Parts: sequence; structure tokens; C-alpha cells
Amino acid sequence: MEFERLLHGGDYNPEQWMDCPEVLKEDIALMKEAHVNCVTLGVFSWAVLEPEEGEYRLEWLEGMIDRLYRNGIRTVLATPSGAMPHWLTNKYPETMQVRADGGRNLPGRRHNFCYTSGKMREKIREMDRKLAEMASRQPGVLMWHISNEMGGNFSDSACHCQECQRAFRQWLKERYGTLEALNKAWWTVFWSHVYTDWEQIHSPVPHGETTLHGLNLDWHRFVTHQMTDFLQWEIASVREYSDLPATTNFMFFFRTLDYYKLQEGLDVVSWDSYPFWHKERDEVPVAVKTAAYHSMMRSLKKAPFLLMESTPSCINWRENNPLKHPGMHMLSSMQAVAHGSNSVQYFQWRKGRGSAEKFHGAVLDHRNGENTRTFRDVAEVGKRLETLDSLIRQSCNRPRAAMVFDWENWWAAEDATGPRLDMDYQREFLRHYRAFWEAGVDVDMINMDGELEGYDMVSAPLNYLYKEGYAEKVERYVAAGGIYITTYWSGIVDETDLCFIGEHPLRKVLGIRQEEIDAPGADFRNCVKYRDVAYETGGICEVVHEETAEVLARYEKEYYKGKPVLTVNRFGNGKAYYLAAEPEQKLLNAFYGECMEQAGIGNPFMTKLPYGVTAAERKGETDLIFLQNFREEPVAAEVKGSYVEADTGKAWQEEILLKAFECKVLIRKQG
Ligand code: GAL
Repeated sequence: MEFERLLHGGDYNPEQWMDCPEVLKEDIALMKEAHVNCVTLGVFSWAVLEPEEGEYRLEWLEGMIDRLYRNGIRTVLATPSGAMPHWLTNKYPETMQVRADGGRNLPGRRHNFCYTSGKMREKIREMDRKLAEMASRQPGVLMWHISNEMGGNFSDSACHCQECQRAFRQWLKERYGTLEALNKAWWTVFWSHVYTDWEQIHSPVPHGETTLHGLNLDWHRFVTHQMTDFLQWEIASVREYSDLPATTNFMFFFRTLDYYKLQEGLDVVSWDSYPFWHKERDEVPVAVKTAAYHSMMRSLKKAPFLLMESTPSCINWRENNPLKHPGMHMLSSMQAVAHGSNSVQYFQWRKGRGSAEKFHGAVLDHRNGENTRTFRDVAEVGKRLETLDSLIRQSCNRPRAAMVFDWENWWAAEDATGPRLDMDYQREFLRHYRAFWEAGVDVDMINMDGELEGYDMVSAPLNYLYKEGYAEKVERYVAAGGIYITTYWSGIVDETDLCFIGEHPLRKVLGIRQEEIDAPGADFRNCVKYRDVAYETGGICEVVHEETAEVLARYEKEYYKGKPVLTVNRFGNGKAYYLAAEPEQKLLNAFYGECMEQAGIGNPFMTKLPYGVTAAERKGETDLIFLQNFREEPVAAEVKGSYVEADTGKAWQEEILLKAFECKVLIRKQG
């Protein structure tokens, strides 16, 4: 999906200021000064667009779109289903979600509609059609922003109403055909939970069924299916009048919804990034996590994504909310671009005077107009994006390494009730990802349905569940020369969460036999020696036996002393590595470093980068290298080759000096 320029702007709520024309006038003047070329309108405007059922008031919005356009600012137009007006919830209470405890929500808040509700769908379709009809007359409208942060209200985020229960049963009927097949897949004989009628099936809830892992897993799948269906419904509604591209704003690794599925009907992926910068002095853990989220958003379509929201200064919903220190706004914005974003957008343009977000950071504060550090930081980002516009838009990241991140595996691995109750897939995944980040190497993320071909190296930590055909795919990949890395607690269950019996599905490829798994606790440490350096492993130690694999490191303590911790097996033209324990970060870094070397993968500078410094590369006719310093102090990075700064033409070789929180965009000089 290509836009005519990199987008810079953000959420704009003129409907909160309709009685202050001088504010609206000032907004446009200051947007131009801040190099804003695009705003998002209408995200929560339903009550203003349709104050009473069937009474539409779109003139103000149309006027605003037109006025912005005449001033060079395009509109990302949102559909307003993210928050419901009172007339809707009062008259049609079935549009509101039912929580897991069975109670229906009261009106208020947001992101809490029932996505199955026929009435909700009917009402939002009527609204969306009106919007689309209007948008078809307005050249200022650039794209659709469907709803907002779908599912983002409650930790469970699912609706448990009767309409949803019926839809769930129907979905199960289509999946399994017969109750007999379902009972078998869910292992319902356990505790006598055999279903004899479809009507007996209910979503998993704390005061009801939670022990059937197959049910839990299918419920997660259903929630994604149903939300995707709602999203498609909205897209179809605007499509009747408009063929503009559509997106919806995702959030981090949002456990409730499988983004690989949700993204299917979108033209472009976008997301809202709110990292906890300055949480600690060491920014690396937050930088790693944020880089992973950006890379995921790019990987979903293997194409540039949009940073739809970020804060220009602080947020207001964590216990403490640090302001971005000098340099961090530019760095965090460029980090998104480095990993594939073609925009930097904010929540919000102007702080409202009242309600829950009046102290959330914004480009414009309640006072001081453009005379603030935040405003200047934002303008600087806008200007830089203008300078680099065509260079950035002709490029996208094309990593040679991939990591398997799979939502279905996530749900199953953490629901497993063993070997530890606090299995944390995301945390373990990020520790492995961090080894790439620290090396300055970008990776793609794929799920188990993704293609492995084309990557020189694939890592799949904590890959508990194997989807059908996955093991065969890995086998072909390794046989053809790929490097595959996996860990303890992998290849344990099939797609319905039933344990594999007999062999590990990748036994031949990995060349090991898994036997048992020790989880002595988070504080437990074992010792291993890898390449003559001593390291520690954490609270999970799997006991495996080498068959055809070569052992690279062994446990040095406990009754499984001498058993393998790290193995490599040559299989066909490739190699498969197995990590039986949860090693400390340093061991992961050393181990991945070696694998990358074998795969011929390295950062663009071909050197070891200092701690806190990383790189990401966007390939194109001109390759762009983003060298980022996440330390609040200057640092020198040793490099091989010669480089020029894309913004200024300044030349560097041997060593590049980075200021505190600086991101340089570099082009390698030939020869
Ligand atoms: C996002 C949301 C915005 C705003 C923002 C505050 O999650 O989409 O509407 O609430 O958070 O950080």
C-alpha cells in the first residue's frame, strides 16, 4: 500500500471544540507549522454524527475534511464503532458486551460492543454507509480507519452473551461436524465432561468450565474469528461507496486477537505504540520490546505499516508517566520508521479540557500554543520525514532471519497447566528476539502457517503446539539447508491441544529424545559451559538425550548433570539446534551470534555494536541503515566501510559518533 508521502499527524477531535472557532483556526495554522500532513478524524464521534437514531449530522465533519484538505492536510477517516452513543445502548442493550461473569455492561466507556450483535452490526452499517457516501465526495479522505483498537477494553475482551454462545456453537459445528469428533478433540471424558448436546457448550468462564484446554483454545480462535467477521462487516459497509484503503489500529502483541488473522481484510496494517520509556535507566528492555512490536506489524503483510498513534510527550494511564527526555521523541519515531513504518502519528493533536484523557500528552497543551518543547520536537520529526520522504518510501526491511510467533501456540502454551503455571511465551520470545536486536539484526515474524523458505535462519522458541503440517515443513526447510532453532517445551501438543504420543514430531530433525522437564522455580539456577565460558540457566531444565545430535553444552548440576542443554543436528543440508533450558541472556546472545555467523547474517556494519545501540535496514534502490542509540549518553560505534548521513550528507568511516538518544539514517558508500 503506497501513499503519496510519509504521513505525519494524528488523532484530531474538532468535535470537542465546535463552540471555539478560534481554536479550530489556530489548529490548522499550527498543524502547518508542525509539518502535519494528515489527521485522523471521527474515531469516537458517533454521538455527534448521529445524535438521535437516524438523524445524521455529517456537515461539520465534511466541512472539516474539506478545510483541512484546502490546507494541504489529508484525513484518515474513522468509523465510530469504538464508542457507542447512549441512545444506542439504551434502546438496544443487546449491543453491549456480556462479561465472563454473565453480567451485561452498563453504558459508557468504549471498545465494549458485542461484535456478534445483529443490531450493532445493522446500526454501524447505516452509519458507515452515510460516512462513505460523504467521503466519496471528499478528495481529502485518504483512507479508512475502521473502529478503534478492537477488543481493547477488558482483559478478557470477549463477549459472552447468548448471541455469541449461539455463534460459537455454530462455528464449532462447522469445525468438527459431529459432537463425537468434538468430544474426542477436547478429551472431554476427563472429569466426565462429555457433551451430549451442542446446547451444553458454553464459553469458558471462571465460574464454569475452564479445564478443557481444547475448549479454551477454540474459544480464543472463535473470538478472533468473530472480531474479524465484524471488521469485515464494517469494511464491506464502507465499500458500498468507497474503495479507499482500510486499516484498523492494532496494539502490541495483543493476546486476545490473532493479528495474523485479523489483518487479512486490511489494505495496510497500523498500530498504536506506547512504550514505557524511562521506566529504568536502562532503556534496552523497552527498546527491544518496541522493536519487536514494530517488526511484527511489518511482518503481518511483509510491507510497510503505519504508526497510527504514539505520544509526543507522555501518556496518563500508567502508575507513573515520565515525559520523553530530550532526543527520545525523535529516536522513538525513527525506531518505528527503521522497522518499516511509513508514518509517525500521534494521539493526540490537542488536549481536551475534560474527561479521562485531558492530561494525556498531545502536540498542543492547554497552554503555551507552539511555544513548548513537545511542539518543537514534533515539528522536527515532521521536517525530518519531509527531508527523507522519497528515500524512505522506496524501501522496506527484508530480513534474512525469521522468528516464529504464533498466537495459537501462545494461548495453548500458557494454558497448559504445566510445567509451570507462569509460562510466559511473550517474555521468552522477547529474550530470543533480544539476541538479534543486540546484534543489530532485524527479523521477520511469521506464524506456523508462514513460509520458511527464503530465510537463512528460523528461530521458534517455546513452540509448544504444532499445527498440522508444521513439522513436515520444518523438516523440508532444514533438509534444504536452513538453520532452525527451537527450545524446550516444543512439539508437545497438536492443533487441538492433545499431546503427541510416541515420537517428538521433529525427532529425526533435532536428533534428540525429550524425556522429562524440571521446573524447580524462577530462582533456580543450573550451570552450563558453552565454548568454554560458564553461564547460568533459569527455572526450566528439560532432560533430553542426544541421538544423532552433537552436544554443545551440558548441565553441570543436579541429577541430570551431564545431560545436554544445547545440541545441534545436521539434517540434510541444514542444521537444527535445540535448547533444552531457559538460559541467561548472555548465553542466548553468544549462541545466536554463532548461528548468525553460520548463516552469514550480520548487522549492516559488520561489527559488534556497543550496548544499547542497534541497527535496522530498509532495502530499496538506496538501502537505508538506521543506527539507533538508546543510551542517554553519547556513544561511538565502530563500523566497517564508509557511510553518509541521508539527511545531511555528512560522511563517516571506521567510527560513527551518536549523541544521546540519537538515530542516524545512513547510506553505505560504494567501494
Ligand atoms: C489508545 C487509544 C486512543 C487513546 C490512547 C491514549 O489506546 O486508541 O484513543 O486513548 O490510547 O494513550
